[in-house]
Amino acid sequence: MATSQAERARPLHFHALPLLTMDVGSFADVPQDLLKEIETLEGLFTTDTEKLKQITEQFEKELTKGLSVEGGSIPMNPTWVMSYPTGYETGTYLALDMGGTNLRVCQITLTEAKSEFDIIQSKYRMPEELKTGEADELWEYIADCLMQFLETHHGDTSKLEKLPLGFTFSYPATQNYVDEGILQRWTKGFDIAGVEGHNVVPMFEAALAARGVPIKLSALINDTTGTLIASAYTDTKMKIGCIFGTGCNAAYMEDCGSIPKLAHLNLPPETPMAINCEWGAFDNEHKVLPRTPYDVTIDKDSPRPGQQAFEKMIAGLYLGEIFRLVMVDLHDNRDTHIFANQDISKLRKAYSLDSSFLSAIEEFVLPSAPDPFENLSETAELFQNKLDIRPSLPELELIRRTAELIGTRAARLSACGVAAISKKKGYETCHVGADGSVFNKYPQFKARGAAALREILDWPEKSDPKEDDPIEILAAEDGSGVGAALIAALTLQRVKDGNMHGILHPENFV
Ligand code: GLC
Repeated sequence: MATSQAERARPLHFHALPLLTMDVGSFADVPQDLLKEIETLEGLFTTDTEKLKQITEQFEKELTKGLSVEGGSIPMNPTWVMSYPTGYETGTYLALDMGGTNLRVCQITLTEAKSEFDIIQSKYRMPEELKTGEADELWEYIADCLMQFLETHHGDTSKLEKLPLGFTFSYPATQNYVDEGILQRWTKGFDIAGVEGHNVVPMFEAALAARGVPIKLSALINDTTGTLIASAYTDTKMKIGCIFGTGCNAAYMEDCGSIPKLAHLNLPPETPMAINCEWGAFDNEHKVLPRTPYDVTIDKDSPRPGQQAFEKMIAGLYLGEIFRLVMVDLHDNRDTHIFANQDISKLRKAYSLDSSFLSAIEEFVLPSAPDPFENLSETAELFQNKLDIRPSLPELELIRRTAELIGTRAARLSACGVAAISKKKGYETCHVGADGSVFNKYPQFKARGAAALREILDWPEKSDPKEDDPIEILAAEDGSGVGAALIAALTLQRVKDGNMHGILHPENFV
């Protein structure tokens, strides 16, 4: 198998381990066995350049298919965001982000000065029970948080004029209208009965009305669309918005003429329409992604088997779990039996390791560290503290390599999605705004993604390392705050200008 540069960047240093100083005793043959296991894992998790190109090609076809009347596995949801911001939007808006861990409420003032804004915000915990509880409890909790925010920042809410709100609801929702969002299915571990297949807007509005929260919903948005618009507010080269966080997805601007499933609306062909790809669903039919037995288990045990095939190999919600499954398998089923004679009950708990656990392992051994192998002791501490497991030195090396393989695969596969959108749109140069915990915190995720993009798109090696890549994935502006406010502003503005496309309740926009 051809090994790409990025894959080769961290060679195995097995020989460098001070095995002689260890009490290896009857474990004398362990390193050989572990080496074999590492090779097996490398075979499973490595994605070479050819494979990435093949995935990208299939991805591009699937993006187009998702826009067709018959549709495909990637939903490609039109969002009714029909222009980029100019930088001159103004006004005060509320933004609500119903994320996986937190509920964030912001008040954003888009100021007169170009591309500038003021923001105040509060975060509320998103109780774990709510994610799999009753729909009413969810909406009531959200309405309570909004009310609390208004009371804190505005005092007496009874005299408050209704403020426009951009609601970031980052789950796949079809929007036949601006002010409608039919949840296709829950993702990211949510599982609340009675919401899938329904319009979430009236549910949310009913909870607001019941509590008298002085808010009018002006835009229902996806975090990727928010990211795209917020980033384009300050940088006109931004053409794609991505989230690499608990979930993984992207949005970009399409021309209405290239969206056959909207042809019946007779929108002018040149008119832009932001598309929330919901690319986490890419390859749900398992045609091209190199799935490992661990990916199969993740899917089988998830609340929605058969869904989000791409996301389950990349997103933060799953990276730690993939790692955990590898470790348990190597303990139980393989010849090596890692962590032999130790109690691994903590490791057996599903979803007990999140992606920050892997980040930490990779952080300790960054090539920039003075001696990456010395730093394995930090990983040893992590295992001891979190899992009550004391790995041997060779096991620590296996742990490090496993984390690296999983993290690298995630970064390289995500580059396929970015490459596919760029190819579809014919973008030879552009900026991509990215946000999310994996993008922002996972060591080397950016560099690995950039290297993969270079391989897929056949860019020549840089002559000067400081030179920018033709397509650059950069840290985005705040999509679910500023992005949501901008989308609310753009929607209100276009209604004012008489563009009523996709507006179901015009009375809410005056
Ligand atoms: C999941 C959601 C999608 C969201 C992404 C990132 O894929 O389905 O709507 O954009 O996570 O949060």
